[in-house]
Amino acid sequence: MAEVMLDLRREPKDRAYAQLHAQFIGVMSGMDDDVAGMATLSSMLHHAFGFLWTGFYRVVGPELLRVGPYQGTLGCLEIAFGKGVCGTAAAERRTVIVPDVQRFPGHIACDARSRSEIVLPVIDRAGKLTAVLDIDSDHLARFDQQDATGLENVLSWFAGRGRG
Ligand code: SME
Repeated sequence: MAEVMLDLRREPKDRAYAQLHAQFIGVMSGMDDDVAGMATLSSMLHHAFGFLWTGFYRVVGPELLRVGPYQGTLGCLEIAFGKGVCGTAAAERRTVIVPDVQRFPGHIACDARSRSEIVLPVIDRAGKLTAVLDIDSDHLARFDQQDATGLENVLSWFAGRGRG
């Protein structure tokens, strides 16, 4: 593996996500395994942007999320649909951006340093929700629509797009 860890903290977001997406597709070339994809993407995002927590919660039962591959300090192990930001994104199958976690009723605080958060649904080739991607930052209002669009593009890999 000759890939260099990207540092995208000073890049404009659109270019940053385009670069990250290209490297992710390259690293995953020939690999068709969701857990490998989740682990690889967590590592790449976390180090390229310097986030506080970056990882996946998988749908493991009716209305239940369980932690998957991640980077950062310990995350809670299970989250019910409808609870916290992750459970809300899962229940509503939509991207949720939280500029200030202290103003999100029911936010689950796994790390007291977390200030803002984005959670995106992960949809498989059959159109089924299989996981959510959760990213936490220690900056207020770190995430906006550009992050949502950039991350949604990268997550299309889990729906089979761009897999080699
Ligand atoms: N803050 C999330 C919980 C997961 S952790 O922060 C890793 C939430 O409210 O869903």
